[in-house]
Amino acid sequence: MNPIDQQTTDRYPTSLRILHWARAVLVLGLLWAGWHMTGLNDEVASKYELYYPWHKSFGVLTFLVILTQLAVRFRTPSLPQPLETLEGYEKFLSRLTQRVMYVLLVIVPLMGYSMSSTYTMSDGVFFFGINLPELLAKNDDWFVVFQWLHKVLAYTLLGLILFHVAGALKHRFYDQDPRRDVLRRML
Ligand code: HEM
Ligand code: HEM
Repeated sequence: MNPIDQQTTDRYPTSLRILHWARAVLVLGLLWAGWHMTGLNDEVASKYELYYPWHKSFGVLTFLVILTQLAVRFRTPSLPQPLETLEGYEKFLSRLTQRVMYVLLVIVPLMGYSMSSTYTMSDGVFFFGINLPELLAKNDDWFVVFQWLHKVLAYTLLGLILFHVAGALKHRFYDQDPRRDVLRRML
């Protein structure tokens, strides 16, 4: 098999493929829930009784999944390399997008945790039935900063995810060259 065809058939290890899709479902769910719950009227009982505590629980769980994925990734000796069939700018953009996504995947939940900790009226950081330690001192000025960062960085992450998905779908359905199909490496 020539080296380029060999590269196309390389796949991510099973553990990383499972973690990639589990994380994708969790992150997309959190983006939807965050957007939905903040738009609810304060009189809607489920807003603070259901959505906020479960958003926090799944947010912390997602953070643990992200750390696990990063640990597995850095301990995996040989990962599939960028496809030689892609243009230079495509390789550059996909690598840049993936790196910035990784940074945001760590920072966004940390900002959520910091926001919930510093808010003086907060119900705490609920995690599937237990209250996690709040770690930071109460301070509403810092809360406003963390709240803003959590929101802006979460929607920036959404923008990058859309770009990332558009890239994967373009290579699969538009390029019509199986040797440029990055998606099969993640399936
Ligand atoms: C990858 C993980 C996470 C994502 C993608 C995410 C996403 C979001 C989004 C999109 C919003 C709506 C922002 C707005 O429109 O105002 C939001 C709100 C919120 N998130 Fe997260 N979140 C994550 C993790 C967390 C964590 C770990 C916590 C806390 C432990 C948390 C606590 C909150 C709170 C309290 C709000 C409501 C903020 C408000 O009332 O203004 N989030 N989140
Ligand atoms: C919340 C949603 C998602 C996030 C945060 C995300 C994040 C990432 C990250 C960080 C990587 C780099 C893997 C590495 O080398 O360490 C990656 C790879 C990949 N993702 Fe996603 N992803 C998401 C959803 C999707 C979806 C919906 C698709 C398909 C339509 C997809 C297709 C791919 C493919 C094909 C690769 C491998 C790229 C390559 O081999 O160069 N991702 N993703």
